[in-house]
Amino acid sequence: MNNNAMRAQILIEALPYIQKFTGKVIVIKYGGNAMIGDNLFEAVIEDIIMLQLVGIHAVLVHGGGPEINEMLGKIGLKSKFINGLRYTDEAVMEVVQGILCGKINKDLVSKITRKGGSAVGLCGLDNKLFEAKKMDRGDGEDYGLVGEIIKTNPKIVKAAIDDGHIPVIASVAYGADADTSYNVNADTAAAKLAIALGAEKLILLTNTRGILREKDNEATLIKQIKSDEIEILIKEGVVAGGMLPKVECCAEAIGGGVKRTHILDGRIPHSILIELFTNEGAGTMIL
Ligand code: ARG
Repeated sequence: MNNNAMRAQILIEALPYIQKFTGKVIVIKYGGNAMIGDNLFEAVIEDIIMLQLVGIHAVLVHGGGPEINEMLGKIGLKSKFINGLRYTDEAVMEVVQGILCGKINKDLVSKITRKGGSAVGLCGLDNKLFEAKKMDRGDGEDYGLVGEIIKTNPKIVKAAIDDGHIPVIASVAYGADADTSYNVNADTAAAKLAIALGAEKLILLTNTRGILREKDNEATLIKQIKSDEIEILIKEGVVAGGMLPKVECCAEAIGGGVKRTHILDGRIPHSILIELFTNEGAGTMIL
C-alpha cells in the first residue's frame, strides 16, 4: 500500500467508531503517575479536544499524587502511607484540596482552553457531586480524612456537558457524615461517575501498557477480556499489585452498566485516540 492509501485507511478506520460514540459520554481518569512530561500532557489534552469536536462527551476525572507530594515536601509536612493509602490529617487535607481543586484542576482547564477546547473545572464539593464518608476498610486502621464515596450526584456534570463544556473533575469529596472534605481515590471516583452518567466507556490512563499476562513483558499484553474472566486472572496472580484496584474499578463500572472499560498507557502519545478509533486499540479492553 502506498503512503496515501495507508493514511486514508487509518483515518477511515475511525468512521464507525465516531458514528458509534458520538453523543455518548466517555469518562477518562487521568492523573498521578500518568501525568508525566509536558508532551504527553499535551497529547492527552489534544485527544480530549478531538473527542469534543466529533461530538463525544469526554469527562475528565483527575488525581495528582506527585504534585501533592511535592507541595507537602515544600512546606515540610510529612504524610505517611498505610496499606497504600495516604493517611490524611487536616493539614494534609488542606494541601490535597488546594493542589487538586486549585492547582491541577485549573491548570487542566486552562490548558484545554488554550488549545481551543471549552472546559469547566469542578470537584466533588460542587453541588455535592461526590458524597463520601470516612473510609472504613474493616481492617481496624484509621486513615484520617480518606473517604469512600457513598453517593454521586452527576447533575452538575450533565449541565456542563449539555452546555458544550468538557467537565474536569478533581477527586475531592463532600463529607456526608462530617463537616469536612474527603480525599478520595480518583479511579473509584471515575468509575462511580461513569455509572451515574450512564457512560459508554471508562478509560483509566496509567503508566503500564495494560494487563500483562507475564509481569514486565509488554509482548504479553492482554488486549481484550470479558469481565467474568477477571476473577480467574486474579486467582492466577496475573492481576495483582497496583493493577488489582484498577481492574476492580473496571469491573464495578461494567457491573453498573458501563459498556466497555479500557486500561491504557498514558506514556504512549495519543493512546486515547488509538484505543477509541482503531480496531486493535492500544491497551486492555474489558467488556
Ligand atoms: N476502538 C474500539 C473501541 O473503543 C476497539 C478498541 C479495542 N481495544 C483493545 N484494547 N482491544 O471500543
